[in-house]
Amino acid sequence: MARSLSIIFVAAAVLVLVSVSVGLVSVSVRDHVSNTIKLDTSADREFRGVWVATVANIDWPSSSHATSAQQQAELVALFDQLKELNFNAIIFQVRPVADAFYSSSYDPWSVYLTGQQGREPSPYWDPLATAVAEAHKRGMELHAWFNPYRARAGSSSRSGLAAKHIANQLHQYAYAYGSNLWMDPGAQAVKNRTLDTIMDVVNRYDVDGVHFDDYFYPYPVAGQAFPDTATYNAYVSNGGHLSRDLWRHQNVDSLIQALSQRIKSSRPWVKFGLSPFGIWMSGHPHGVVGFSSNTQQYADSRKWLQEGWVDYLSPQLYWKIDPPQQSFTALSDWWIQQNTRGRHLYTGVATYRIADSHSWPISEIQRQVTETRLRRSQNDLGNIFFSAKYYRSNSHGISDLFKSLNARPALAPSMQWLHSDVSHIATPTVSVGSGTISWTADSTDRLRAYALYRRDEATSQYRLQQLLGRDTLSVKVGPGTYALTAVDRLANESQARVVIVDTPLVG
Ligand SMILES: *[C@@H]1O[C@H](CO)[C@@H](O)[C@H](O)[C@H]1NC(C)=O
Ligand SMILES: *[C@@H]1O[C@H](CO)[C@@H](O)[C@H](O)[C@H]1NC(C)=O
Repeated sequence: MARSLSIIFVAAAVLVLVSVSVGLVSVSVRDHVSNTIKLDTSADREFRGVWVATVANIDWPSSSHATSAQQQAELVALFDQLKELNFNAIIFQVRPVADAFYSSSYDPWSVYLTGQQGREPSPYWDPLATAVAEAHKRGMELHAWFNPYRARAGSSSRSGLAAKHIANQLHQYAYAYGSNLWMDPGAQAVKNRTLDTIMDVVNRYDVDGVHFDDYFYPYPVAGQAFPDTATYNAYVSNGGHLSRDLWRHQNVDSLIQALSQRIKSSRPWVKFGLSPFGIWMSGHPHGVVGFSSNTQQYADSRKWLQEGWVDYLSPQLYWKIDPPQQSFTALSDWWIQQNTRGRHLYTGVATYRIADSHSWPISEIQRQVTETRLRRSQNDLGNIFFSAKYYRSNSHGISDLFKSLNARPALAPSMQWLHSDVSHIATPTVSVGSGTISWTADSTDRLRAYALYRRDEATSQYRLQQLLGRDTLSVKVGPGTYALTAVDRLANESQARVVIVDTPLVG
């Protein structure tokens, strides 16, 4: 069938159906490109993140002895599966114990990657570079997850650590504490190097976010004081006046604030978020009882949210809804009330509880997602799930559940306070024929993805049907009315180009 005249640009929002003559045969022009419209998609947005933990090979790679090719294949298969379940963000742990899942001049290669700290992967590859490319190919965000102070997990010894590891370079500030090795957050040299290490990633990799989890000062070990007396005494003898507790608070606060400023001044579209332990202080809200991360880990995450130092917070609400002592919903509501600047809250959900000794029914996870969605208009804008391996194995049917929970794709919520590039993003230049919508590549690196909507004829609403990475330049579709937008790095969209596919002529 001749489609040479299939591209018709219509200036007004009026649908014009045309019939043209090609030679002696009258041909109906059916597939065609139509007007542009502005879609308001803010109501349908949701952050759907999954943590991919590398420490102790929790989620990936399955083994530090697997070959580079096997590890890459596992990563691609995992991302494929998370994409299929319509997750839109991956929180990828790249520095679990002051080591690296990427090429670094600061930290040594991770033991969890190659079996020996400091050993480069052979054949060589760079997992973070691959993860960024594979996430973006699928229209997903990739947030690089760092542990700022933990130097070693499961062992408090320095033996076997690479010469360039921070605990060797700054050994006077590396402390055995419980069964871990921990860097002193009060030492300026530790803080400097930690900031430089993270900014090196922000500047060299096209990451969408920087993420910290719940480790700041270590969780207290019974009967053991954190051994930072020498550092504190040095602070006092240099004229410091704060009590030890307030000084420890200031040490963490200043790292968070400095990192926030450095990220924003270098790459203003890169998000900074973290996922603290879910209870800021026991007794907040009334009735909640538990560990107080603010006073016991010096992690005043509420302040960081209220100061606007973080763009999003994902408190780990790893408890059920019903028991009042740590109720998921009571704590969600409390965190929403604390969010006085309207930053984003993406509640942390404990997928792993379906499989550990707590054996939650998966209906608990379903309820928690539903409760989060009920609170969406109050800035509780999504969830991050711990962790990826349960989806990989469809543990207890969890992936089947998410096929229905995430039946449609969603764009991440846009952050209004960050600089959007959307004015530099052109409406896609589209053509259509034989049920294939195609568009031309846009070379700007500000463009992240394309969003394809389909109009629901009953409601006339456009619903997101596919979120496509920036390398995708065509898609096959069935008959219907579609709209295609280009999406920037902060999930803001260009105008939408309307495309009519295979519409039968009427009259
Ligand atoms: C930390 O960095 C600051 C700013 O770059 C510098 O002035 C200071 O000397 C550094 N301190 C240490 C102990 O490395
Ligand atoms: C970015 O997208 C959001 C959600 O659709 C919208 O509310 C906001 O106005 C957009 N910002 C810009 C600069 O276009």
